[in-house]
Amino acid sequence: MKAGIIGAGYVGLVTAACFASRGLDIMVHDTSKEKIATLNAGGLPIFEPGLEKLLTGHTISFTNCVKELVETCRYIFLCVGTPQGADGEADLSYLQSAVEAICHYTEADKYIIIKSTVPPGTARRMEELSRSLNKNCKLTFISNPEFLRQGSAVHDFLYPDRIIVGSDKPLSGEEVLSLYEKWDCPKLLMSRESAELAKYAANSFLAMKISYSNMIASLADRAGASIDDIQAAIGSDSRIGKDFLKAGAGFGGSCFPKDLNAMLHIGRKHGTELPLIENTLALNENQPAAVVSKIKAALKELTDKRIAILGLSFKPMTDDVRCSPAVSVAEHLLNEGAKVILYDPLVRHNPVHRAAKGASLKESLKQSDAAVIMTDWPEFRQLLQPDMLNTLKRKIIIDGRNMFRIEEIEMLSKEVSMYYASIGR
Ligand code: UGA
Repeated sequence: MKAGIIGAGYVGLVTAACFASRGLDIMVHDTSKEKIATLNAGGLPIFEPGLEKLLTGHTISFTNCVKELVETCRYIFLCVGTPQGADGEADLSYLQSAVEAICHYTEADKYIIIKSTVPPGTARRMEELSRSLNKNCKLTFISNPEFLRQGSAVHDFLYPDRIIVGSDKPLSGEEVLSLYEKWDCPKLLMSRESAELAKYAANSFLAMKISYSNMIASLADRAGASIDDIQAAIGSDSRIGKDFLKAGAGFGGSCFPKDLNAMLHIGRKHGTELPLIENTLALNENQPAAVVSKIKAALKELTDKRIAILGLSFKPMTDDVRCSPAVSVAEHLLNEGAKVILYDPLVRHNPVHRAAKGASLKESLKQSDAAVIMTDWPEFRQLLQPDMLNTLKRKIIIDGRNMFRIEEIEMLSKEVSMYYASIGR
């Protein structure tokens, strides 16, 4: 049984590798010649832990030819990007091009399974589009949103909390679900609109938990309370849950900011205000400024101060800097006259041109007036070693990710006189 994947991004490649590891025969298509050449040469166009091992261990074919994929596969997963377009709306142009290409090459009875995050009604509209382009088209459109986190996408795919399949015909939904027969988790069949909206609702809820924690952290700062204790206290209520309550510099990445903006657009389109989503985004947009004010409180004056930003990616285990709060903080500091040096264990390019890039943690700390942790990479735990901390000109740490425990800092303070500030504690 052959399944095709359109789009060799992190969702497409993880889907391909995980299905292949469960015995499905997989073909991957991407329009980028460069990406397909890299994959055919055994390379990987993205960094995702565990992916390389899974891809090389199984036979997957990679092609630039849609025709070849469409002719050989009964199940075609659409894993193309749906970036933020004008007015926050999800840009469906890649999805639409893929659908146009597919129905150009087949009149056979096949399943088009949308994994990309798309507004409710998209699968239905794409099915209508396919019929309008080719009246003999028999494609069945299914919604099957993914819940993969960058950095743990392979694990998330293999061991999901649930699998959602949206279909307007139960039998079609069942057939697509059968591709997941080796997965042991709740499997939910629903309408396509529900499946599509469930993805946005899940991401918005998770983002809302983060903004909620950041809001409480700001209050805790003023009220002399600790967000760690509050997180433990509220998180142990099973109705709230402990995950996604970590306060810090705010959420970034290619999903939450984009999906929340798209959600607002969906609300406007349907004539409904979504104030919780609006405030979740507004609070998050303010979080980098909250980190900057902590830096200012420590340094008083920013002009000509040399500040090391530790971590550029929006979270550890990825080199993705899209909507990363680290970039906003660096820009804020530069605008206020500081000299900024950036260090990240994985990000190779420099996303903030006016800043310098440090080659190592130690080199970035040297001569710096403060170190600001913006991504909780394990490597930064080295700052807890007096030797590493002493590399700083002034021993000031602003921990924008609450990566150190307060007890660890208290222990260190006994050896080295230092200034430490974090979020909400
Ligand atoms: C997110 C969702 O978690 C996935 O379920 C979803 O499939 C994916 O978006 C998507 O739509 O494709 P991702 O963006 O990869 O995954 O990253 P997360 O691990 O969710 O982290 C997002 C941001 O929230 C990061 O900047 C992280 O630092 C921040 N975060 C996370 C916090 O500030 N506090 C927390 O407690 C958790």
